[in-house]
Amino acid sequence: MRKKILLFGGSGMLGQELAHCFSSDAYEIISPSRDKTDISSQENVFRLVQSTMPDIILNAAVLVNVDACEENPEKAYSVNTLGPLFIADALRTLNLKNTIFVQFSSSDIFGSDFSANPREDNEAFPINVYGRSKYYGERCVNGILGEKGFASYIIRSSWIFSEFKKTFVDVIAEHVLRPTGVFTTAEDQRGIPTWGKDIAENAKTLIEKKYQYGVYHFVPDASSADATRFEIAQEIAEILGRNDVERLFSKAPRTRILKAPRPASSAIITTRFPKLPNWKESLRTFMEERYLKTRA
Ligand SMILES: NC(=O)c1ccc[n+]([C@@H]2O[C@H](COP(=O)([O-])OP(=O)(O)OC[C@H]3O[C@@H](n4cnc5c(N)ncnc54)[C@H](OP(=O)(O)O)[C@@H]3O)[C@@H](O)[C@H]2O)c1
Repeated sequence: MRKKILLFGGSGMLGQELAHCFSSDAYEIISPSRDKTDISSQENVFRLVQSTMPDIILNAAVLVNVDACEENPEKAYSVNTLGPLFIADALRTLNLKNTIFVQFSSSDIFGSDFSANPREDNEAFPINVYGRSKYYGERCVNGILGEKGFASYIIRSSWIFSEFKKTFVDVIAEHVLRPTGVFTTAEDQRGIPTWGKDIAENAKTLIEKKYQYGVYHFVPDASSADATRFEIAQEIAEILGRNDVERLFSKAPRTRILKAPRPASSAIITTRFPKLPNWKESLRTFMEERYLKTRA
């Protein structure tokens, strides 16, 4: 029998990657449109879980824009914290112990400059509203479902790129292909570019191979270390055949470019799950499919 997946945030970047990856004969995906499912409404979430009785819930709904979260904390907490809380609460109320709940989260729950390369069980020190709202979302899931016989995963990742949303990678690629002046990137903000497709495929593996429930870090291969925004821009320029990166980009401290505070490092390490493909290889494949094939 096909397994029923209730997908929140299906119109978003990771949501579309997940829908694409799970679309097979083995799964039926229910991805209600936003107007039908405001995740910040407990009544909505409960009604939806009760009426669908899913085998799997994937929550990729989020307010992800860090500056927007800082400007509108109420909205950030209502989506990023209350959303997962309401899902977990519905599962508990309906006693759905066989429903697998996957909550997607972020390396930005760490955040302190002192917690470089945190593992799954390191303490979180979020430094902005986005990080705090995601962290409290995780706490709600763990608090309600953790170690009580329910089936929940939390998957954290660093910076995501995907064909389904214009991200930093596309902004840089467009600048490389059609430069207008010099683009300033942060010299002191580190992270690990992670292909949304790799995250979706490995989330599927996590579920299908029945990994133990708990927290996982999805991290691309360590043989290519984390990088600053500037270094990622450099990598993209090289893939696109430009080696004059100094003429295209300048560097500045992140506090001069970005509004809300950002962690110095969004890099995390995994001790519980195999590494995802090397980010430089994934980035190259992504760039070739998206930018180079269309130019050929
Ligand atoms: N983007 C990254 O670089 C990154 C990095 C690490 C982790 N993550 C995590 O990955 C997950 C997905 O992020 P993403 O980048 O795919 O986000 P995204 O592209 O911005 O998509 C967010 C989704 O959430 C939906 N949504 C927003 N508010 C909602 C509400 N009140 N009720 C129901 N749905 C709502 C959006 O619908 P509308 O389109 O209708 O607004 C959209 O479908 C999140 O858990 C995020 O924390 C992202």
